[in-house]
Amino acid sequence: MSGPQRGVAIVEVQTGEGRAEWVRLRNTGAASVELTGWTLRGEGGAQGVTQARTFTFPAFHLAPGREVRVHTGPAAQDAENLSWATRAPVWSDVHEDVVLRDAQRREVSRLPAHGAPEELPRFPPDFLWGVATAGYQVEGRTQGNDWDVFTTSPGIQQRFKVVEDVARFDTNLHAPGEAVNHFDLDVLREDLDRACALGLNAYRFSIEWGRVQPRKPTGADAGFDAAALAYYDTVLKELHQRRLTPVVTLSHLSLPVWVLDPPRTLIPSEDEPFRASLRGWESAATVAAYLRYVRHVVERYRGSVHWWLTLNEPVGSVVGLGYVAGIWPPGFILDGNRAKDAYFNLLRAHAQAYDAIKALQPGASVGLAHAMLYAKRVKEPGLGNAHDGAKNQFDYFNTWHLLNALVHGKVDTAIHRRAGSQTVLAPQEVAGFLGVDAGPWRPRLDFIGINYYRAVYVYQHAVVALAVPFLDGAFENDVRTTEEHHGVVSDLGWEHFPDGLYQHLARLHRDYGLPVLVSENGLAERTDRNRAAYTLAHLTQVQRALKDGVAVKGYLHWTLVDNFEWHEGYRPEARFGLFTVDRDRRDARGQHPRHITEGALALAHAVAERSVGPAVRKFGTVTVDGHRVRPPVRTPGAVWHGELAEGVPFTLCLDRLEVGGWLGLLFDAKRARWLRLEGVEWDAAARRLLFSHPAHTGTPSRSFEATVEGDSLRGTLRDAGVPRPWHARRDALFGVWDDGTSRLVLANLEGEARGGLRAKWLRPLPREAWRSVPLAARTGPELRLTLPGSWSLTATLEDGALKGRRVPLPATPGGELPFHAFRLPDDVPF
Ligand code: BGC
Repeated sequence: MSGPQRGVAIVEVQTGEGRAEWVRLRNTGAASVELTGWTLRGEGGAQGVTQARTFTFPAFHLAPGREVRVHTGPAAQDAENLSWATRAPVWSDVHEDVVLRDAQRREVSRLPAHGAPEELPRFPPDFLWGVATAGYQVEGRTQGNDWDVFTTSPGIQQRFKVVEDVARFDTNLHAPGEAVNHFDLDVLREDLDRACALGLNAYRFSIEWGRVQPRKPTGADAGFDAAALAYYDTVLKELHQRRLTPVVTLSHLSLPVWVLDPPRTLIPSEDEPFRASLRGWESAATVAAYLRYVRHVVERYRGSVHWWLTLNEPVGSVVGLGYVAGIWPPGFILDGNRAKDAYFNLLRAHAQAYDAIKALQPGASVGLAHAMLYAKRVKEPGLGNAHDGAKNQFDYFNTWHLLNALVHGKVDTAIHRRAGSQTVLAPQEVAGFLGVDAGPWRPRLDFIGINYYRAVYVYQHAVVALAVPFLDGAFENDVRTTEEHHGVVSDLGWEHFPDGLYQHLARLHRDYGLPVLVSENGLAERTDRNRAAYTLAHLTQVQRALKDGVAVKGYLHWTLVDNFEWHEGYRPEARFGLFTVDRDRRDARGQHPRHITEGALALAHAVAERSVGPAVRKFGTVTVDGHRVRPPVRTPGAVWHGELAEGVPFTLCLDRLEVGGWLGLLFDAKRARWLRLEGVEWDAAARRLLFSHPAHTGTPSRSFEATVEGDSLRGTLRDAGVPRPWHARRDALFGVWDDGTSRLVLANLEGEARGGLRAKWLRPLPREAWRSVPLAARTGPELRLTLPGSWSLTATLEDGALKGRRVPLPATPGGELPFHAFRLPDDVPF
């Protein structure tokens, strides 16, 4: 090392093991540099982390002699001659991406870490990138299915009140009404256009059995509704027109009321309407009716559908919530016998439907969407390891039993995790039990659909164990109500645990050897905070699994627009959409407006890059153990606001991709529509920008050209061939701002249409997740942000920096702090 030692730089440390922190690299001016304030968190054991949950390195010295010179650009004076170690054991131990910035926060050097996402191979070209939806949750105007009764019957409402008091949890049971109106094909078309704007190529939806077969078949009347069947013809046509591959679920958690009329009594029991229906999945008659329905619809749609999902979440949701928790139809509580009957009938329904579909369409890919929670044990093992046992039993029933049966033909009728306590049917008994043709066993799944959201902490529950022995345990739906040392949670209190997705994918590959489709993954948030980070964290695990040879066919995010979330109704905490639906407003056509989330942009980036690494750098991620959000290290592109010729406000988002090319999106405020740009070209010598977008429902095709002058774009656009002038101004606030200890994300993607500025804030120490800043406004050059209960901030944009003061709330004398933040760089070269 030579030359003077001076300056302060920030090193970002990103770990692969959930131990992510900001650390400060301080040049001491002596022969070594010092890292301070590094907290490592882990589950214990591995890689020099102590058994304690938190371990602190108060200071860390990089030895001279292990240094490399950092070659800085001409502007990066403060970082000149600063040096650090590349191979100090600590770096290689924690698999980190290390970024060195100069005093202006400009990135001057990066040490890519072993295992960082950019080292993972790209997603395959035929990978399905999509969203998942379900009929009852989006269509609206349904009539005559079990959920209609369940959400409106006074007896069931009353029961919910009791259950809420006893079990201490909140629900919001009411009828879905119009949902998000996808039964109106114009509304559906616009939402499909939104999926296309993100670059998606797949769309999962379900056929509402109760809609297409509203009547119980009698004599010559098979009970089907011609108009409803025609509706799905159009849905499929619309998907194909948009090159969205359909993934079709045949039964997504709702049944026609003639199949199941849920008990309406306060204490669920077989009332008259229930007995007059087929009694749902506990009866063989339902399996037979389901088979007739499946044959009918598959015969009709087989020309347009390759991917079929017979059932959605038969174990975790249909059985677990319908017969044990009692919060979904039919609503039986802790009814072990019915739960078991229903479960085996669901296995039969799937196996028989699989054979029926393959007979009608031999080339189809047939699977089911299986809810796979990642089961962790509560922190205490329990008396005689009871909680451990309960966790294992829960996991066995909830996740693996069904796959053992349908893939290997191993049907354990005792449903017991221990081999010695199992009652495994002999091979010649299996076909009879499942109701399929005898003969050598063949798997009844072409692929496994995994719905993965979270980890849960399972404990033994004496009452559950008695009533439902094959379940043995329970978990708290909202982990925030427990004493577990949990990770980052969604607004429903579901714990993020990206590693669980990898662990499941790896085990599915190892134990079953079948292709896998991530048929659902997503999170619920009142306002968009961690959606981008969560989504990218899970995609990273998919990419990791692909690298390890797991045949993952696609990733379907739950969901496209916020929809009816079952017993949560439309609670703001239960918003799962990549596009948020503003249920308090209606547009000129009477529809609830949709607004893009940062999660949607992050997914669009990953799709465009066919990799997660670049998007992680721009949106951040969640550590693999789910314990911490890792902030972004760059700003995701740049944004301009302007007016199209007719005075229509618009927003332009552009970002240069690492894979080459551009990601461009344009928001047309008049039509409240995001459009994907094509043919983005930048001529650096002439400072000229070109792009266009094709025609969409209600929007003509347009091509744009502009010259870049400072922060303005000015040029001509051709709207259906007619030339008009246009201009736009760069939004200097858009981006990720770093004040050395915290990150602030500022976005104004839909301009006034969205009510102005959106902000979120993260302080890596000690905060672990993004917080939305609800009060954000800009008046002239001044920016005002308030995070209630935390601080309020006033800042002005000056020479590319945000400078101002931060006042703690409640205000304390002398508590005011200067605020000085720099925008993290973006990849846009103008
Ligand atoms: C279901 C969806 C549901 C989602 C979020 C899954 O259980 O398949 O219908 O909305 O998770 O809770």
